[in-house]
Amino acid sequence: MIKENIRIDYNNLMADIIGYNYGINSSDIDDMANQAKCANQAIQSNRGKGWLGWTELPYNQDEIVENILKTAEDIRKQFKTFVVLGIGGSALGPIAVQQALNHLHYNELCDEKRNGPKFYVEDNIDPERMAALLDIIDVKSTCFNVISKSGKTAETMSQYMIITDALKKAVGDKWAEHIVATTDEHNGNLIKMAKENNFRLFYIPASVGGRFSELCPVGLLPAAVCGIDIRAMLEGARAMDARCKSDVIWQNPALLQAVIQYIVTEYMGININVMMPYADSLRYIADWHCQLLAESIGKNITRKGKAVNVGQTPVKSLGVTDQHSQLQLYNEGPYDKLITLIKVENFRTLCEIPHGCEEYPSVSFLGGKSLNELIEAERQGTAYALSKRGRLNQTIIMPEVNAYTIGQLLYYFQMTIAYLGELYDIDAFNQPGVEESKIASYAVLGNEEEQYKRKSDEMKAAVNQKDDYII
Ligand code: PA5
Repeated sequence: MIKENIRIDYNNLMADIIGYNYGINSSDIDDMANQAKCANQAIQSNRGKGWLGWTELPYNQDEIVENILKTAEDIRKQFKTFVVLGIGGSALGPIAVQQALNHLHYNELCDEKRNGPKFYVEDNIDPERMAALLDIIDVKSTCFNVISKSGKTAETMSQYMIITDALKKAVGDKWAEHIVATTDEHNGNLIKMAKENNFRLFYIPASVGGRFSELCPVGLLPAAVCGIDIRAMLEGARAMDARCKSDVIWQNPALLQAVIQYIVTEYMGININVMMPYADSLRYIADWHCQLLAESIGKNITRKGKAVNVGQTPVKSLGVTDQHSQLQLYNEGPYDKLITLIKVENFRTLCEIPHGCEEYPSVSFLGGKSLNELIEAERQGTAYALSKRGRLNQTIIMPEVNAYTIGQLLYYFQMTIAYLGELYDIDAFNQPGVEESKIASYAVLGNEEEQYKRKSDEMKAAVNQKDDYII
């Protein structure tokens, strides 16, 4: 495992590199020194408090990690399949880390090569998907990790009900041995069910919100079950944390990133944030980042109650695949995007392209090179083409994709978002905009509780939809 720092190359954001009409002046960054210092001090002085519990996860989980590793070992011995039931922050991290750190066709490997249970994360309530899962797993040999901080999320709890019913039919009294609950220690229904039925149980600290929870048991247990080195992930997070202590913008990578995102959005009309890893292993890191940015920064009010509508729209993209889908727009469409490429310096495998096709020079030149060289050449080509047209792009450099660098990357993104919340003076840790649709959907389902009945009346009184508008 290469244990080196990830690096961020900002060249192609800067005015003296991509042109004064398009780039950021370093003096604009320097002008944010005071705001940045306040942002850092607000985070550092509140570490571990309020919703900043995630800042301490790299340091305060020795005992929990021991317990996770022991439980993971038992699960690996007892079960052939491990299924996470969860959604949003309770699912995107486990998906992203599994994709990043395990074989890209993990589930398809033979048992000896996989060396752990098959792994699925059910983060939707599409009925066909649930039926499809039940078609391919044997619940008798499956462990289900129900993850819900609130312990009452409808999507997760409906899955829980379906699965417990299936388990009771399949294994009778032993059904509860197939469930691990990961939830808040005091609040919600899941904790009550867990205690009542004696499930294996892990806690999500009260001060850790869903999208900041990958480095607590939410992410660590599924990762450990699939053989991922969770201690190295936490070590990587600590290494990044050590780099994110300084008040000085240019010495703190996450603070610099937050300042850049603030400047380009507020002063340059850059409202879209594209995350484009050049590695399949990182494609779901882009998904995870999408939620982190959207739910944290997409807000309509500051902490002092001032009306605002802030937040870049995150876009997930995959290099090189999306060069053949989205790059045309990035290069020639509106000047409204900050594009982050992720480069992997050392892939975990080398795939050489053999010589051949000599009669076709435009093909044969590829012979003797490797896919490793080709993917990096294409990333460089994209960065060059974007920069030539004044399109803001930066590159995160991963020395290798491994548990240590992924720990750094996750922590870096989380810290960036926390700083950005401070710069905007918004609450980056709530998600009130998600509530309205949740309450409305419960009202549609006829939930008898008072707030849903009121919502149902409100919905009925709303402007009538017209059939004329449906063709
Ligand atoms: O980031 C968040 O807080 C949300 O995305 C939650 O993770 C998501 O809504 C699931 O919530 P819960 O874990 O309570 O089931």
